[in-house]
Amino acid sequence: MSHVFHRGSGLPTVARASGCELWDTEGRRYLDGAGGAIVVGIGHGDASVAAAIAEQLGRVAYAHGTMFASEQLEAYADELAPLLPLDDPRVYPVSGGSEAVETALKMARAYHLARGEDRWRVIGRQGSYHGNTRGALDVGGRGPLRRPYLPWLGLASHTLAAYEYRCPFPGTHPAGCGARYAEALEREILASPPGTVAAFVAEPVAGAGLGAAVPPDDYWPAVTEVCRRHGVLLIADEVMTGFGRTGRWFACDHWAVRPDILVLAKGAASGYWPLGLAVASGAVHDTIGSGGFTHGLTYSHHVVGAAAGRAVLRVLRERHLVEAAETQGKRLRAGLEARLGGHPATGDIRGLGLMLAVELVADRTTRAPFPRPRRVAEHAVAAARDRGLLLYSSTGGADGTDGDLVMLGPPLVVTDAEVDEMVELTAQAVEAATAS
Ligand SMILES: Cc1ncc(COP(=O)(O)O)c(C=O)c1O
Repeated sequence: MSHVFHRGSGLPTVARASGCELWDTEGRRYLDGAGGAIVVGIGHGDASVAAAIAEQLGRVAYAHGTMFASEQLEAYADELAPLLPLDDPRVYPVSGGSEAVETALKMARAYHLARGEDRWRVIGRQGSYHGNTRGALDVGGRGPLRRPYLPWLGLASHTLAAYEYRCPFPGTHPAGCGARYAEALEREILASPPGTVAAFVAEPVAGAGLGAAVPPDDYWPAVTEVCRRHGVLLIADEVMTGFGRTGRWFACDHWAVRPDILVLAKGAASGYWPLGLAVASGAVHDTIGSGGFTHGLTYSHHVVGAAAGRAVLRVLRERHLVEAAETQGKRLRAGLEARLGGHPATGDIRGLGLMLAVELVADRTTRAPFPRPRRVAEHAVAAARDRGLLLYSSTGGADGTDGDLVMLGPPLVVTDAEVDEMVELTAQAVEAATAS
């Protein structure tokens, strides 16, 4: 009997990992098709990152964020700042994505309060995921995750996400979809009493909830304009897409989006340390004032987290991994299209860079999803694992209950041979899971 409150039963015990591979204690090899939950960018087992963390641990392992600044964090923020898609960015490091989202939501409220406006409502998007703490869960729009906790939620409201495979404007699609999504956001803003909406939170490219759904090019300019016109801050959640994953440093860069607040985690430290970042633009930061932010976490501004983030940044640069995400992403996508594009259960293959998803459907013509009791995504993940490939999945994207997606987001160091192996094993897993 284990004394661990596990997240699953019958899990293999991990022993070691390197590059895109993990091994369990029985010597079984797993090809990491998803970097865990699309976390590991620089690959497993990078000795230079381990050394940088150990070096900082040996010097100072911990100093409280209200008692000390640190050279390590100053250097990390200086190196990061020119890459970030915000003007004059100010980095607030925390321990993960959900904490970063909570911090961003509080920054938005603090900003408005400092300007004398009592704005509190946050608008998220249906089907989106922003984390599992209560504020993040509330702004997220994934029904199955929210359902058990609904009595604790309800301060946030939700607008349409850009989900072009199931476009909510079929009559006019694809012309003007961006403008229609923006109108829907504006209606949601106007549904709240005047001067109450503080922020709009969205992933530039949808994460697991809607399986790497890429917005049309007219989406971001249109929704940004609506936010600006109503004094609503734009919070871009790049927890999954940040640090090269989509083939640009940040997914905002694909459309020159300049958010007021940016949320990062996952690829920031690539799994080597629990690191999240809430980044305010200079204007947001200066309005709040450094001392005027009622917030704080014991492990924020962690000096070892800064060392880990800095070392990961160096590896991303030295190994040209942002460029690799674009090149290998093209190879992976082409492989999936060639191998699975004609399969009757393949509804859509989409994504950007090395963040790709295959949406599985019962009927390609009507795009009808599989009924949830068939658990197609879960079976596909299990079939892949049986073949030695780790995939990520999500369910409920189609209508809040039904909908099956498998996601690929391997470490950006993935080789050509590993990409090809991932394609073949994913195809076999999909074939096995959808065979009637
Ligand atoms: C877009 C997005 N935001 C927030 C989170 C929450 O991050 P964490 O699990 O580190 O709390 C995730 C995690 O998957 C995510 O994908």
